[in-house]
Amino acid sequence: MLGLSSAFAKTPIYLDESQPIEKRIDDALGRMTLEEKIAIIHAQSKFSSPGVQRLGIPELWTTDGPHGIRPEVFWDKWDQAGWTNDSCVAFPALTCLAATWNRNMSALYGKSIGEEARFRNKSVLLGPGVNIYRTPLNGRNFEYMGEDPFLAAQMVVPYVKGVQSNGVAACVKHYALNNQEINRHTTNAILNDRALYEIYLPAFKAAVMDGGAWSIMGSYNLYMNEHGCHNQYLLNNILKGEWGFDGVVISDWGGTHDTMQAIHNGLDLEFGTWTDGLSSNAGKSYDSYYLANPYLNLIKEGKVGTTELDNKVRRVLRLIFRTVMDKNRPFGSLCSEEHYNAARNIGIEGIVLLQNSKDLLPINISNVKKIAVIGENALKMMTVGGGSSSLKVQHEISPLDGIKSFVGDRAEIVFARGYVGDTGTEYNGVKSGQNLNDSRPAEVILNEAIETARNADYVIFIGGLNKSAHQDCEDSDRTSLDLPYNQNSVIEALAKVNKNIVVVNISGNAVAMPWAKQVPAIIQGWYLGSEAGNALASVIFGESNPSGKLPFSFPAKLNDVGAHAKGEYPGIMRTDGSKILDEHYNEGIFVGYRWLEKNKIKPLFAFGHGLSYTKFKYGKITADKKSMTVGDNITFSIPVTNIGPRDGAEVVQLYISDLKSSLPRPIKELKGFEKTMLKAGETKTITFTISNEDLSFFDDTKHQWIAEPGIFEIQIGAASDDIRSSFKFNLD
Ligand code: BGC
Repeated sequence: MLGLSSAFAKTPIYLDESQPIEKRIDDALGRMTLEEKIAIIHAQSKFSSPGVQRLGIPELWTTDGPHGIRPEVFWDKWDQAGWTNDSCVAFPALTCLAATWNRNMSALYGKSIGEEARFRNKSVLLGPGVNIYRTPLNGRNFEYMGEDPFLAAQMVVPYVKGVQSNGVAACVKHYALNNQEINRHTTNAILNDRALYEIYLPAFKAAVMDGGAWSIMGSYNLYMNEHGCHNQYLLNNILKGEWGFDGVVISDWGGTHDTMQAIHNGLDLEFGTWTDGLSSNAGKSYDSYYLANPYLNLIKEGKVGTTELDNKVRRVLRLIFRTVMDKNRPFGSLCSEEHYNAARNIGIEGIVLLQNSKDLLPINISNVKKIAVIGENALKMMTVGGGSSSLKVQHEISPLDGIKSFVGDRAEIVFARGYVGDTGTEYNGVKSGQNLNDSRPAEVILNEAIETARNADYVIFIGGLNKSAHQDCEDSDRTSLDLPYNQNSVIEALAKVNKNIVVVNISGNAVAMPWAKQVPAIIQGWYLGSEAGNALASVIFGESNPSGKLPFSFPAKLNDVGAHAKGEYPGIMRTDGSKILDEHYNEGIFVGYRWLEKNKIKPLFAFGHGLSYTKFKYGKITADKKSMTVGDNITFSIPVTNIGPRDGAEVVQLYISDLKSSLPRPIKELKGFEKTMLKAGETKTITFTISNEDLSFFDDTKHQWIAEPGIFEIQIGAASDDIRSSFKFNLD
């Protein structure tokens, strides 16, 4: 009887997928006890929160992000759990994705990594990261999308949509102003609203309002004296108020510091607060999280009400309904051929050809007998390390292996290390399986490389940074713009004995290149993930024509960066014993190329720069009208022709210059780009439509975006320092 009656029992509303989600949330909320509500808003393990078992509402599992799915750690320890089914595909780091300037690549990236997350039964992917590149010393720049708010905003949206098409939430991080790793928990960023709205927020806003992100991660740092994870101004006023965000604010791991602020200032789900084992020390268990017993007690004592709690629970339920309780979500896939292809193609499209004197590249393999590959980064695995984005991959093709397999027996490949930098082969308990020890004296290692280089037709030097502390790595910043491990001298010595030298810089950051004039060809090779070597070889030997463009400037020296010339990086310690460092962003809106152009400083390589093996000719800009009125649009067209010998893709960039303004404005700002594939000899006309929004600045006194009537100039070109045509028009 019991079985029969329960079989006919009506499905409760919260489990009825035909019901609107808000109705289901209301229903579930009404069934939860106070204790269940408290439980659902904080972690139960390193990466999960509990759901409501009694009601069949499942656990919510999160995972890093943002370049691949993190291997399993123990329930309550960071050590590897030792699963054998959690190896992943490493996609290129997000700087490389940004360097593709291709929205379709971003969609492919999001869809693919979302499929990997889904297959591993994760509901929240902790990424992408879109903090703006303010200083080349920031150890986490490799996880972000560069220095320009428009580029980052355009690229983050397809990533978010792609991930979420799998029923997996993107968790866009680190909101906001986490622009450096040094003192990341104690730095209080001080800047005007204009810089906040024009530079540091647009990518987050786009992720929320255009991408529909289901979650956001609060940042570690402070702003207006409150930590990012419970920040009234950033979370309540802007994110949830102005942008109408209906998702979940998740704390960065250990970023919560205060129960009252956590209750009132916009945090919804607390993760990573320090614990000490599952239960051995009750004072440090999950029940002691700021949003756990301390919150419960305040409610029981009548010191706070439950309005905020219900709001948080609603958001968490919404996230659960959108993800793990969506029965129609796809199944996902792990380490599929499609994912490797995606990783390789994104890598190929993001590689930037910085310099190519006398068309040294591509190397025509049929004319070559011997190639010397030199440098530690030709060997070193780069998917292991860097902090929370560290991965356990099914495979990673090193540059040396990629080159060898591309060349096969068509030429001889000889390798020499050249220098010994970082011999670490383990990170977070993931072992790369490499042995990078070499105890020979530095001079011997260098001389071997010089002799190897002298006797080869070409030298490919593969160096740069790596994923160890003080390189491209979370929780520490670099200490200088220079390449580490004496690489400058090694490159100079090699360039002296062989003029056919290509330098491949592996990094997620700009580096100084004092030897740039001594070497004909330079490639920015990023962190390319599982398919690194294959992607690089494809470009070096001309199977693919490079089309990446820099998503950030390469300054010639550190003092050419606003945060260093004028800012107060890395902050000034308060004298009140609070251990907080104040950091004024004195450069304001003048970040990256905005700073360089304002101060007429020539960079080593400019924002948007990147060469091809073919050449593109730009025609003249035409417009559909000479002036526009407020609320109107104006459309510009420009013909672009591939005048070189081979097919290639060009990123056509549109910048806007406000020629007369009541407030200081950058010389120009990126407001449009299109990547277009052109066959040799082909011409295409690229069009851009500009609206008021693209002409506006943020007026902090009025707290409003303003497009001021006057004359504007449209500049279209191949890089921020390579404008090919311009056009003036009026905003009436
Ligand atoms: C990082 C986050 C990451 C989290 C979980 C934190 O230290 O800042 O980006 O998602 O750890 O691993």
